[in-house]
Amino acid sequence: MAKIDAATAGYPLPELLPVELPADPMPMAKEWMDKAWADYVQPNANAVYLATVGEGGCPSVRAVLCKDLIVDPGYAVFYTNLNSRKAQEIAANPRVALLLHWDTLNRQIRIEGTAVASPAAESDRYFATRPVASKIGAWTSEQSAPIESRAALMANITRTMLRLGVKLDDTDAEIARPPSWGGFRVWAEHVELWVGQESRVHDRARWSRSLTPDGEHGFACGDWASTRLQP
Ligand SMILES: Cc1cc2nc3c(=O)[nH]c(=O)nc-3n(C[C@H](O)[C@H](O)[C@H](O)COP(=O)(O)O)c2cc1C
Repeated sequence: MAKIDAATAGYPLPELLPVELPADPMPMAKEWMDKAWADYVQPNANAVYLATVGEGGCPSVRAVLCKDLIVDPGYAVFYTNLNSRKAQEIAANPRVALLLHWDTLNRQIRIEGTAVASPAAESDRYFATRPVASKIGAWTSEQSAPIESRAALMANITRTMLRLGVKLDDTDAEIARPPSWGGFRVWAEHVELWVGQESRVHDRARWSRSLTPDGEHGFACGDWASTRLQP
């Protein structure tokens, strides 16, 4: 039986990073994400692991869906409940880290930066595109809060449908975004692109830039500087 390198899992190895690293890592990060999505490498090819810092400097991490990766000026977008544990931790400390990993592509992206609430109009626009069941769920779930039973949650969903006057198959129902739900933009300050290679001689590079607060939703971004890293 052929020996499979556990690191690459026998999947085709992707191209190495360019010898001359690109000035900006975001177009390549976006290209990787688009490929993972187009090739349907996994059902949630846009899943991203979001690490936040909690009380006492304790980290916590969970999956969210990266709904957009904006190359210029360079941020990732995810949506969530604004009273959830992650949102509370971001309110207390907006420094976050993101990890995207596609095993079958042998690629990993790490982003470290600062999370800022998306403009309300952007969250409204995205919420309007969600299926009706997801909208009802967003109005119902006090995400991260305890509930006595699964049955109690289902009863709350029924109550929400009655209150909003909608049913699950009511695909044309107009349901506004709940105030407790919205998007975050994670502005990239450091980006690492990782390409898996045989025998763990992987190819890695890290880009860093400065972020200077500029307005309610963003930053003025400095130029990226890059370094190749040992695996
Ligand atoms: C593949 C996957 C995608 C998910 N996407 C989201 C998402 O986009 N937004 C979200 O709030 N939770 C999402 N979740 C659920 C979160 O991982 C988490 O359970 C939830 O947000 C509560 O996290 P918190 O208590 O740390 O705030 C996803 C879970 C998985 C496994």
